[in-house]
Amino acid sequence: MGSFTTSSILLLFIFSFVVTYFPLSTNSRWIVDDRGKRVKLACVNWASHMEPVLAEGLSKQPMDTIAKRIVSMGFNCVRFTWPLYLITNDSLASLTVRQSFQRLHLLEYIARIEANNPSIIDVSLIKAFQTVVSSLGENKVMVILDNHISKPGWCCSNLDENGFFGDKYFDPDLWITGLTRMATLFNGVTNVVGMSLRNEPRGPKQNVNDWYKYMPKAAEAVCHGLSPRDLSFIQDQGVKLTFSGKLVYEAHWYGFSDGQTTWLDDNPNEVCGRVGTYMMRTSGYLVDQGYPLFIGEFGIDQSGSNVNGNRYMSCFLGVAAELDLDWALWTLVGSYYTRAGVVGLNKHYGAMDYNWSRSIRGQTAQSDLPSFNRALHHKNWPTRCA
Ligand SMILES: *[C@@H]1O[C@H](CO)[C@@H](O)[C@H](O)[C@H]1NC(C)=O
Ligand SMILES: *[C@@H]1O[C@H](CO)[C@@H](O)[C@H](O)[C@H]1NC(C)=O
Repeated sequence: MGSFTTSSILLLFIFSFVVTYFPLSTNSRWIVDDRGKRVKLACVNWASHMEPVLAEGLSKQPMDTIAKRIVSMGFNCVRFTWPLYLITNDSLASLTVRQSFQRLHLLEYIARIEANNPSIIDVSLIKAFQTVVSSLGENKVMVILDNHISKPGWCCSNLDENGFFGDKYFDPDLWITGLTRMATLFNGVTNVVGMSLRNEPRGPKQNVNDWYKYMPKAAEAVCHGLSPRDLSFIQDQGVKLTFSGKLVYEAHWYGFSDGQTTWLDDNPNEVCGRVGTYMMRTSGYLVDQGYPLFIGEFGIDQSGSNVNGNRYMSCFLGVAAELDLDWALWTLVGSYYTRAGVVGLNKHYGAMDYNWSRSIRGQTAQSDLPSFNRALHHKNWPTRCA
């Protein structure tokens, strides 16, 4: 998740490909299974890229309970975030979960993780990551491995040095090595259906040439899987790969992507028409060109208190349903172990509540996730804004 401003330069909203694995592939704009039947990704983002490098919420509930709630909310898939250094820094990857919390002085979590998820407290961080993927698999939940950032921590600031090729924490070669290792590690794990190559390329160094230099290279490395918002530049050049049927484009779209108060300042129908047109020009056109488009992040404050967000969401639901897109809600996470220095931060974007025990928070229609999911699953709901 990023904090975008409208005054972005070209690649601010560009993400990356999602590559789908056996048994999934693409057929024109659809993601299909090995029999050619359409698979609609209805995912939720689950963060595992923060400082502790452990899937959030495991101090609150057993992972199997969380996986079952994901299913009961109507999601069939998790966009599971990971920091590059989890796979490229062996001294990080080999820390046990206990050691990881000890080094961060987050001792209060250790006993709670041990109580709720005893099997992982003394295993390495990389093994704990694999264990969560397995637990999701046992519950028939598909997983997209999302390389969210390099250095563990909250993403995404334009100045966090994790943003674009050549940044302090974004060495392209190390990144490709990491993606290759991750793909190898999960090769044969059938519920892992794809990889998001890199979350929200951004920052002062961003440019189209380097995007074209490295994204296809990474896709080639992983496939034997680019992408938050403006993918319009692909229209001119296209992306040439030596394989086919595995490429899904990913874009992100939040209410604040269009400005913090845009939806308050103007008539919402007009704003929806405007941003809907912008969306079609920057990423929606890919569907018409015969590529699947995955909205890898969208979401609102589920408490319903942000009117700007609520209006955006009505518009978003209309566009996403009409185009019948694949998508991933930001976020599952009801509370973070630690974020921006706040221990136990309560995050109202979460589908889970603070205790990870209830799946619906707030009283608003938007926070009613099952009906929200139905809206997104329904093809023609409601009519697209003008
Ligand atoms: C690797 O991880 C360890 C443990 O977290 C950390 O101390 C070290 O600085 C990391 N090395 C690099 C190159 O990031
Ligand atoms: C979370 O759980 C604790 C302990 O069961 C309880 O005291 C607290 O009220 C709950 N908090 C919320 C916000 O549900």
